[in-house]
Amino acid sequence: LVLILDFGSQYTHLITRRIRALSVFSLCISGTSPLSSITSLNPKVVILSGGPHSVHSNDSPSFADGFVDWAQSNGVFVLGICYGLQLLVQRLGGEVRVGEKQEYGRMDIEVEKNCGIFGGKKVGDKQVVWMSHGDEAARLPDGFEVVARSQQGAVAAVEDGDRKFYGLQYHPETFRVAAHSMLALGRAWETALSGDNTFGCWGGKLMISFFFFVKVTHSPEGMETLRYFLFDVCGVNAGWKMEDVMDEEIEVINNTVAPDDHVICALSGGVDSTVAATLVHKAIGDRLHCVFVDNGLLRYKERERVMETFERDLHLPVTCVDASEQFLSKLKGVVDPEMKRKIIGKEFICIFDAFAHELEQKLGKKPAFLVQGTLYPDVIESCPPPGSGRTHSHTIKSHHNVGGLPKDMKLKLIEPLKLLFKDEVRQLGRILKVPEPFLKRHPFPGPGLAVRVLGDVTEGNALDIVRQVDEIFIQSIKDAGIYDSIWQAFAVFLPVKSVGVQGDQRTHSYVVTLRAVTSQDGMTADWVEEFGAWGEVVEGEIYNTAPDDSSVLSPTPATLLNGSPPCPNQGEPPISTSYSTVYCFENSFLKEVSQKICNNVRGVNRVTLDITSKPPSTIEWE
Ligand code: XMP
Repeated sequence: LVLILDFGSQYTHLITRRIRALSVFSLCISGTSPLSSITSLNPKVVILSGGPHSVHSNDSPSFADGFVDWAQSNGVFVLGICYGLQLLVQRLGGEVRVGEKQEYGRMDIEVEKNCGIFGGKKVGDKQVVWMSHGDEAARLPDGFEVVARSQQGAVAAVEDGDRKFYGLQYHPETFRVAAHSMLALGRAWETALSGDNTFGCWGGKLMISFFFFVKVTHSPEGMETLRYFLFDVCGVNAGWKMEDVMDEEIEVINNTVAPDDHVICALSGGVDSTVAATLVHKAIGDRLHCVFVDNGLLRYKERERVMETFERDLHLPVTCVDASEQFLSKLKGVVDPEMKRKIIGKEFICIFDAFAHELEQKLGKKPAFLVQGTLYPDVIESCPPPGSGRTHSHTIKSHHNVGGLPKDMKLKLIEPLKLLFKDEVRQLGRILKVPEPFLKRHPFPGPGLAVRVLGDVTEGNALDIVRQVDEIFIQSIKDAGIYDSIWQAFAVFLPVKSVGVQGDQRTHSYVVTLRAVTSQDGMTADWVEEFGAWGEVVEGEIYNTAPDDSSVLSPTPATLLNGSPPCPNQGEPPISTSYSTVYCFENSFLKEVSQKICNNVRGVNRVTLDITSKPPSTIEWE
């Protein structure tokens, strides 16, 4: 195990992911965790993350007393990154000062010593790295040596080989590839030729098609450095595979659930609950009982499509409860978004409770466990940056698919995905033979279309309208081959009427809006913008495989960079890396979608596009 102690860096989770991508299991816990939490995990390597603090400030977080002695006496390798290095230096008796010149952004470093962390200089004497620090190590503790320095003479890498302590002042985990294109030039040309827009536009497209190139930013050798550190210096074994995760989880479930115990699961139709349920089903078979609730707020043909996958492809035992009338009658006249969420959450609980009760009658025994598709990002405890207002207890998503659970159900939780990131859940889903289109579905919120129909959801045929518009938009995106490149796309119903003319008739009909965003985790998002000259909108992860070009290339110039990052280690296949992509909708695509909507959806005469990122907006409209 490689354990990461988090001191609040925005890159901490990236370290965890990078290491897992090297087929080594890694976990992240708060940097201020008690020593017992660290020792109980028995790590071979501990990485101290970066963080926004200065070691001199009063509230700067630090590792537990006794950590250094424990690491030393147990032969545990310790690597400090940025703030982690400074912390190590300070706690071991060295000195950290405010640097004479602060170092932010891309910097050159020179490797001075032939040491293991740089593969005996195999990664090169000179490197470009990503720095982000104001303080620097001014005097090293006894036993430490400088291994690399920045162009400005600051300490960039240190080691104390005897005690197995290492430090990097830069961020090796921030390897990234950016697309640079002649797009800006193409745009300038287009503008310059605005008298002949057609030619200008084609000129822009030609430039886009033929003149993009790729430039590596951040710490291009970072992945190699981590690889050398883990395998050559620490002697870690690669071998963490999703197949093993599956087998281990099945074993845990079988050891937890007694042979006569029953387990229930609320399936939302999303990836997480489906993969979790499929895994539990593989372990305990039909002692798993799933419920899927049609709350009347589902997308076009959602119930039929989802139930078909559950039953035909996954053979999951699912009870479908049609509770649409129950939900919609409670929502009648309600316009306040929070009130809608509360009502929906409460109804879910009632239905869930009734389901558990019915099972009890049928089985003569209460179900003992509940399966939840909780993911790792929801359970990681992070060190909050100062002034962020976050506490150590971490922000768990306030919204939830089942809206909270009845207290008197006394169910014990089974959370088989709680150590996995979303893309790892997808990998697991693949092994469990969850159909690919299902794994790649865009997220859909628990309160469903209630947060996409502004105002009263029962008003007129708002729900039908939004369903039809959404279906046209999503189908067009799929036809254009860009569905997998988008985090989430959907339609929103606005309770606003505008004047139009359709046929020869004046109309007074509704306005709808289309929203499409790229995001990594839903916490922040960029709208799928028309053009961007620098390709850093989305960072995708590729695990032990070349990227699927078809998923990022589209017939439109929706993607500028084809997603094939250069291999950091020439001659070897990429083990893991990231790629950045700029997306855009072509005008002709938008025009076609808009026409299809107005021609096919009764009651709509105006289509708008949401061009706001998160923040300041949220992804959903309510
Ligand atoms: P927001 O709108 O908060 O959405 O920017 C971030 C992500 O969360 C989804 N979302 C929800 N998911 N229950 C859920 O299960 C909810 O109540 C809920 N609200 C938002 C949203 O679709 C996006 O992916």
